[in-house]
Amino acid sequence: MTTDLLNLLRCPVTREPLQLEILSKGMKLYDGQEKEIILTGILRSSDCVYPVIDGVPRLLVEACIDYQDFLARHISNFADVKNTFETKYRGLLNFVLKKNKRTKQSFSQEWGLFDYETDKVWDADQEGMLDRFLRENDESKSSLKGKRIFDAGCGNGLLNQSIAACGAEIVGMDFSLSIERAFKQNTNSMALFIQGDVQFPPLAFESFDIVHSSGVLICTTNSELTFSCLEPCVKQGGKISVWLYHFRDDFIHNLFNKVRNYTSKLPVKFQYYLYSLTLLPVSYVIKRMKGNKQNKREMMIDILDWFSPEFRWEHAHDEAAAWYTKRNFHSVKVTTNELFGFNIIGVKG
Ligand SMILES: C[S@@+](CC[C@H](N)C(=O)[O-])C[C@H]1O[C@@H](n2cnc3c(N)ncnc32)[C@H](O)[C@@H]1O
Repeated sequence: MTTDLLNLLRCPVTREPLQLEILSKGMKLYDGQEKEIILTGILRSSDCVYPVIDGVPRLLVEACIDYQDFLARHISNFADVKNTFETKYRGLLNFVLKKNKRTKQSFSQEWGLFDYETDKVWDADQEGMLDRFLRENDESKSSLKGKRIFDAGCGNGLLNQSIAACGAEIVGMDFSLSIERAFKQNTNSMALFIQGDVQFPPLAFESFDIVHSSGVLICTTNSELTFSCLEPCVKQGGKISVWLYHFRDDFIHNLFNKVRNYTSKLPVKFQYYLYSLTLLPVSYVIKRMKGNKQNKREMMIDILDWFSPEFRWEHAHDEAAAWYTKRNFHSVKVTTNELFGFNIIGVKG
């Protein structure tokens, strides 16, 4: 991270601005030049502490558990700090630990397979991803210039680089470890990355021209609840854009959804081997017969994305439109409508 990002960060628990203690600095290539970054540090609010590790602020509510070894090494009274936090926020901490555990594991495994050199993201190359983003958000390359965007659940972070290249400042956030590779791979200084939970966004409210969350709400505990946690980040006159699964009247699709209700409960590593031996060969033959050129990793990522996450919700278009109207968003419209899902946007205020 760089200090520029600090103004935008908030404690996900108390919503206060954060104080930064820098532990170490390093250099990273941005826009063709070596730039100084903060490699490790501690971010503090009145009640909470969060680490910066390998250049990425770790702003999860459960950071004091996930990163306790790092924090204990760098904060002399960490045991007391943790104890006070756990006593004051016991219910919250138990809640987030339980709700996030399996989803974090599942997406860390899924994006861990991704090869940045060769693989496409949802069948699209870099240009195709940007094109899809522009259609979903009803924007053009030139209209993005100067905008501040929040990509809530950014996955591998590749799209963020293309958006930043259009002149937008974009904060990509994910709670899985995909965020570490997203940060490392990026060389555009306008693309920033943080680890955080979309249900506790660690960012200043009313600060973003666009909040974009593609394929994320539907794998949280409750899609509309997550929508209501993200929409305060949108500025007045800004928009929120979400991509959601919709219902499909298709026997195989609905059978697969029934199967995943059981298999998604298995240990994530076991699921990887199970699907590699069962679904992957079948998918490979069918996709090749249809002329689909996806490589095996891309196919496996598609399979894991469907079968492995703990939650997978589907929504009607009108239901999602109501989320916007209830919260005083206007100009609500479905911008893209595909086989598995749709994108919907609305303007605040
Ligand atoms: C299907 S992927 C989509 C990634 C990216 N938006 C894209 O379109 O390629 C869903 C992403 O949401 C992230 N995610 C799921 N629940 C989350 C949460 N509560 N907080 C932050 N990220 C979350 C996952 O880690 C995963 O990277």
